[in-house]
Amino acid sequence: MIEDFFPGCALYRHPVHADPRGKLIALEQMRTVPFDIARVYYLFANATGQERGFHAHRALHQWAVCVSGSCRILVDDGRKRHDILLDSPELGLHLGPMIWHEMRDFSPDSVLLVLASAHYDEADYLRDYDEFLALVRHETRA
Ligand code: TYD
Repeated sequence: MIEDFFPGCALYRHPVHADPRGKLIALEQMRTVPFDIARVYYLFANATGQERGFHAHRALHQWAVCVSGSCRILVDDGRKRHDILLDSPELGLHLGPMIWHEMRDFSPDSVLLVLASAHYDEADYLRDYDEFLALVRHETRA
C-alpha cells in the first residue's frame, strides 16, 4: 500500500512482472483486489476539461487503474478530501462504499479501467452530496 486515505479507500502499487519484453500486471479477485469482480468498465476518449463521477456508492467496491495517460480522482469521506493523481498503470485506487469521488484532469490519451464488485445498479448510487453527508454523519454517530 502506498497511502491509506479512509477505511476502504487506499492507493496501492501493483506487483509488476517486468522483463526485457516489457511489463505485465495481473489483478486477481480476493488477491490483488479485495473483492469478487462482477463488472469491468473503462472510460476512454475522455474529453479535455470534462469531469465525471460526483457520487458515492452505498455498497459497491471499485478498483480504479489509469492504464494509459493520467487523471485525478478526488476522494471524500464526508470529513476530509484527498486529491489523487493516477499517472501509472502500476497504481490502483481502492474505492470502497460511502466514498464520494470526483474524476477530472483526464489526459487525452487516458484510459481509466475500473473493476467493480457488483453489476450496474442505479439504486446503489448517491448522487446528491448533501444526502451523502447526512448518511455518513448519521453512520458515524451510530
Ligand atoms: P455515469 O454514472 O454518468 O458515469 P460517471 O460516474 O463516470 O460520471 O454513467 C454514464 C452512463 O453509463 C450512464 O448512462 C450509466 C451507464 N453505465 C452503465 O450502463 N454501466 C456501468 O457500469 C456504468 C459505470 C455506467
